[in-house]
Amino acid sequence: MKIEEIKNTMLDELKSIDDLKALNDLRVKYLGKKGLITELNSEIKNVPNEEKKAFGQKVNEMRTLFQSTYDEIKTRLEEEELNQKLASEAIDISLPSTKVSIGAPNILEKLIEEVEEVCMSMGYDVVDGPEIEEDKYNFEMLNIPKGHPARDAQDTFYLEGEEILLRSQTSPVQVRTMLKGKGEVPVRVICPGKTYRRDDDDATHSHQFMQIEGLLVDKDISLSDLKGTIDVIVKKLFGEDVETRFRPSYYQFTEPSVEVDISCFNCKGKGCNICKHTGWITIAGAGVVHPNVLRMSGYDPEVWSGFAFGFGAERMAMLKYDINDLRVFYNTDLREVKHFDRRELKCDD
Ligand code: DAH
Repeated sequence: MKIEEIKNTMLDELKSIDDLKALNDLRVKYLGKKGLITELNSEIKNVPNEEKKAFGQKVNEMRTLFQSTYDEIKTRLEEEELNQKLASEAIDISLPSTKVSIGAPNILEKLIEEVEEVCMSMGYDVVDGPEIEEDKYNFEMLNIPKGHPARDAQDTFYLEGEEILLRSQTSPVQVRTMLKGKGEVPVRVICPGKTYRRDDDDATHSHQFMQIEGLLVDKDISLSDLKGTIDVIVKKLFGEDVETRFRPSYYQFTEPSVEVDISCFNCKGKGCNICKHTGWITIAGAGVVHPNVLRMSGYDPEVWSGFAFGFGAERMAMLKYDINDLRVFYNTDLREVKHFDRRELKCDD
């Protein structure tokens, strides 16, 4: 009687189980060391001899019944648990994904890299010079002595007295390179870098801007070598049909000096806003290295000659990417930066 009762309760309890923890508790309740079935087993000794066998059988049946029901429920619960987990962790691939914004190179840097690449393909080295410069390299050894009016054009930031300054041009790197070269030829370098002038910032001026300086020194170098070289750079940057022209100009460290114009890549010379209806755009100053500059840097102007050029990097990038405000390069408004990056990457969103 007692056995039947326990068995019925056991079955009821097993049926009402709906989680694995409770199922395990039940296993302990019935089959554990002090479990009900285990206890029944030890009661066998108190059972009269003639009933022992039947009693033993019933207890065994009960244990088997518990075990099989237990196994069944366990399998079912485990399956349910797994299905639930799979359902809750499922990924809905039809949901729109979170947008990851990718970075892109700054367009000014890109332009400089393009110039570096063309020049390197022509055998130029890319060199660097200090932004905090000595007066003697920024001016004196470029044939601009103290008190010379040519200094006025470059409103310079002086740092210590009259000797240390923020370079107002990348041209001092010409001097540094030649001094380092100790008379060896050919000298073939370009130097992109930051320059500083006491200008008020507006759409076309900045107190800090980038120049790309170039210098070549060898035997019998003439203005036509300069023209050929600039032509290669310009065609690479603005297109094969773009032409170069030189206009006479004046710089202390070159003689003759020129302004480099390119034919307007936008209107092909017809006249538009970019070229201010002239068909031409000025992008650099250049010339044949002045004999004084060669001499002061240890190259005999009777033997060697050279050319130099200085591009305004922002101006070139503004032209190339149709930007009308140079502050775009230096502000941190990501919307603007991205706008130009995207256009360059030819990407729609
Ligand atoms: N350094 C000049 C400037 O900042 C630009 C320049 C002109 C560089 C002629 C040159 C050059 O190398 O030959 O205005």
